[in-house]
Amino acid sequence: MDKKHMDKKERAKERREKRRQEISLLRTIPYSDHQRWWSKETIAVVTGANRGIGFEIAHQLAVHGLTVIVTSRDTGVGEEATKVLQEGGLNVFCHQLDIVDPSSINVFVEWVQQNYGGIDILVNNAAVNFNLGTDNSVEFAEQVIGTNYFGTKSMIKAMIPLMRHSSHGARIVNVSSRLGRLNGKKNRIGDAILKQGLEDVETLSEELIDETVNKFLEQVKDGSWTSGGWPESHTDYSISKLAVNAYTRLMAKMLSDRPEGEKIIINCYCPGSARTAMTNWAGQISPEEGADTGVWLALLPDQLVTGNFFAERRELTF
Ligand SMILES: NC(=O)c1ccc[n+]([C@@H]2O[C@H](COP(=O)([O-])OP(=O)(O)OC[C@H]3O[C@@H](n4cnc5c(N)ncnc54)[C@H](OP(=O)(O)O)[C@@H]3O)[C@@H](O)[C@H]2O)c1
Repeated sequence: MDKKHMDKKERAKERREKRRQEISLLRTIPYSDHQRWWSKETIAVVTGANRGIGFEIAHQLAVHGLTVIVTSRDTGVGEEATKVLQEGGLNVFCHQLDIVDPSSINVFVEWVQQNYGGIDILVNNAAVNFNLGTDNSVEFAEQVIGTNYFGTKSMIKAMIPLMRHSSHGARIVNVSSRLGRLNGKKNRIGDAILKQGLEDVETLSEELIDETVNKFLEQVKDGSWTSGGWPESHTDYSISKLAVNAYTRLMAKMLSDRPEGEKIIINCYCPGSARTAMTNWAGQISPEEGADTGVWLALLPDQLVTGNFFAERRELTF
């Protein structure tokens, strides 16, 4: 690597480290009584909360005093994770939920309705990825897109009717990734017209997002995806997160005409490269740090931003 390149990398590393320290300081500042719009009656649902970043989001929300529903596709594993949090004195309950199984979603919705009447926060964290390092297999592309995009979308559609009305607004946080950015330095969509269509919230539609991911999946089937102009690294995962990001913007627009007192704000964020099973524990930050921006977005006290993409508590372009 040449010196110029090296310096740039070093500077980026320094900036990341500085922000990391700033956030660890910010995390020590308690929310004031005036900022705390939530209480023990506030209900947060976290998907894929049995481990990794999802577990940490559930943990941190419960430490802030909310009631948290840990959901997990495996009941036993979910119960184990919940027990750990309950033993710490936290108000946490659990329920089975597989976000790609419509009957599991239906049972969950019924259970929430009967036991809580509604929810205030939904964190869509559950996702899969099958490529590590520089691997780029598309063997599991259908499962990746099916879980990360279609599963997240199914949860949003199923939970919106359950979101309670309040003056501070209900919240949806989608755990996404920088790999799904349309305007990132790397990993861009090659088709300029498609990129523009996905970028402009006026032309963005659910059909366009579905068509985009389905086109990729068709190309995976016929073997032509390598010349399809798709993101070059972690292609299936990047496309799934690009779709999550686009759907976040679209939903924010669709939800924006709800009357005062019935607002739902929706944002997405990248946790950063975290040491979890998904990265084979090779990330640069802990799951606790990876959870931070998600928790911060779920609890936003006043500036009720919606339809944006964040990382390290800062807004980024899509
Ligand atoms: N780690 C990183 O560096 C990184 C970077 C950027 C973005 N992210 C995002 O952060 C989120 C959390 O990832 P992580 O690193 O914590 O990964 P992880 O440890 O692999 O956790 C993923 C969670 O999702 C669950 N899940 C997968 N498919 C599901 C389904 N169909 N229904 C319900 N739950 C399902 C998993 O359940 P099982 O235990 O049953 O498998 C697990 O609880 C994901 O959205 C990921 O894309 C992570």
